[in-house]
Amino acid sequence: MKRVITYGTFDMLHYGHIELLRRARALGDYLIVALSSDEFNAGKGKKAYFSYDDRKRMLEAIRHVDLVIPEHTWEQKASDIGLYQVDTFVIGDDWAGKFNELQAQCEVVYLARTPEISTTQIKAELTKAS
Ligand code: CTP
Repeated sequence: MKRVITYGTFDMLHYGHIELLRRARALGDYLIVALSSDEFNAGKGKKAYFSYDDRKRMLEAIRHVDLVIPEHTWEQKASDIGLYQVDTFVIGDDWAGKFNELQAQCEVVYLARTPEISTTQIKAELTKAS
């Protein structure tokens, strides 16, 4: 069983997220999503539109996702990889090179982002239209 993990906020779920999750799951047999908690985002000055619990329920309804766990800190990746026996860490290439230190523990893959869609862009366009 090859286990894959990815991290993110996944707010206002869109097709760019689904593509990332589909391709991440296709790299193995079991996909874990470490979902940024509301407290972790607040510490970064970010506020998701949907709460952690709502974002979690939406991710759990997606067939590419096997398990959702909370992301509370930047540092937890190393312990998650050990705890969940992760083979591959995956994230979009907006983070290219940022997590290379995890290569000591597992494979690290940066997937090309789906062009022209992001939560930030959706929010901006909805604000502009109103
Ligand atoms: N992602 C992607 N393609 C997109 C948007 C996001 O592959 N068009 C990936 C990101 O690279 C990341 C994951 O989806 O690995 C979760 O990204 P997140 O930051 O939650 O989504 P964004 O839509 O980029 O949100 P924001 O604009 O708030 O950064």
